[in-house]
Amino acid sequence: MKLVALKAPVDRKPRADDFALIEAAPPSCPEGGVLVRVARLSLDPYVGSRLRGRHMGEAPPAPMKDAVPGAVVGEVAESRCDGLTPGDWVHSMDGGWCDIAALPGAACRKLDPALAPLDAHLGALGMPGLTGWAGITRLAEVGNGDVVLVDAAAGPVGGVAGQIAKLNGAARVVGVAGGVEKCALVTERYGFDACVDYKKEGWRDALAEALPDGLTVFFENVSADMAMVALSHARPYARGVLCGLVDAYHTDQQSLHPLNAGVIIARRARLMGLVVYDYYPQWDDYMRTAAEWVREGALVVAEDAVDGLENAPALFERLMDGRNIGKCLVRVSPLTA
Ligand SMILES: NC(=O)c1ccc[n+]([C@@H]2O[C@H](COP(=O)([O-])OP(=O)(O)OC[C@H]3O[C@@H](n4cnc5c(N)ncnc54)[C@H](OP(=O)(O)O)[C@@H]3O)[C@@H](O)[C@H]2O)c1
Repeated sequence: MKLVALKAPVDRKPRADDFALIEAAPPSCPEGGVLVRVARLSLDPYVGSRLRGRHMGEAPPAPMKDAVPGAVVGEVAESRCDGLTPGDWVHSMDGGWCDIAALPGAACRKLDPALAPLDAHLGALGMPGLTGWAGITRLAEVGNGDVVLVDAAAGPVGGVAGQIAKLNGAARVVGVAGGVEKCALVTERYGFDACVDYKKEGWRDALAEALPDGLTVFFENVSADMAMVALSHARPYARGVLCGLVDAYHTDQQSLHPLNAGVIIARRARLMGLVVYDYYPQWDDYMRTAAEWVREGALVVAEDAVDGLENAPALFERLMDGRNIGKCLVRVSPLTA
């Protein structure tokens, strides 16, 4: 089998040449588990933190030994687990950068290939989609009349958050994204009402113009600085979902810019931290609802995909630099047997 591992421990933002593609002996099928032929691999921002031992207390992988962790979609090749048989399609958050994964049955969710394109299980229907849905519907409880601001809006989390806000009756959804191409994706394909390019001079004025009556909800993916910008547009009693701080994952100061308590008090704002793990029990329900939106074209996530496991490190470097446009996916092997 093939796998991608770190060459050595890293204590900074990982780069493509920190990784090596290695040949290893194929794993045997574990008792109570399955061997999965990996077809699609998801690359996600948390993996950068995980490699440095900074993610939710989870251990980093061993250099030159363990596959880099990652969510996968694949086909069961061998099973020693009740309820899964060869030929079944599964999703697992416990896969990795490899072409064959040995997984406990409990770490696999069986997929119905007729429900939606299998790729969607790593984006709109996957962990990023679940995150956007949870923040918008379960924490901010977006409904009729809300004005919602989302940053990193071209990515799978932000893109889904904004689209589900609209589907739930938001009056206006405004995105923030870096660059003309990302902003066009957000308005033209995701259907946001406006998107502000924060890499362009005068973007703060453009944001004020896009939010003439302020906002009632913001969904923060990037930084405490951006959360403060959002708060400066908040109407009284606004709700803020704090989902990610991707701008700070590789700085040495994890504490960052402190949120200004005076502003939070004056706006009577309610800020809520989001960890998607809390919503895993609701994943299958979300998946069925969202699959209908995906089939109807009402929920779209652009893919930034490459072919072949050997190209995962370069795509990951692009993600770490924020140069990805859409959901980062690696096509490891075909979706048909
Ligand atoms: N709380 C949870 O449980 C949970 C679960 C999943 C994901 N998340 C978080 O949700 C956020 C979005 O995730 P995603 O998978 O949808 O990623 P993504 O949006 O595809 O990629 C991250 C985006 O962040 C923006 N960015 C801004 N500053 C950056 C920097 N210094 N370095 C790198 N990127 C930067 C870039 O977009 P622009 O150029 O448009 O700024 C980049 O494309 C991340 O913060 C992630 O950690 C949280």
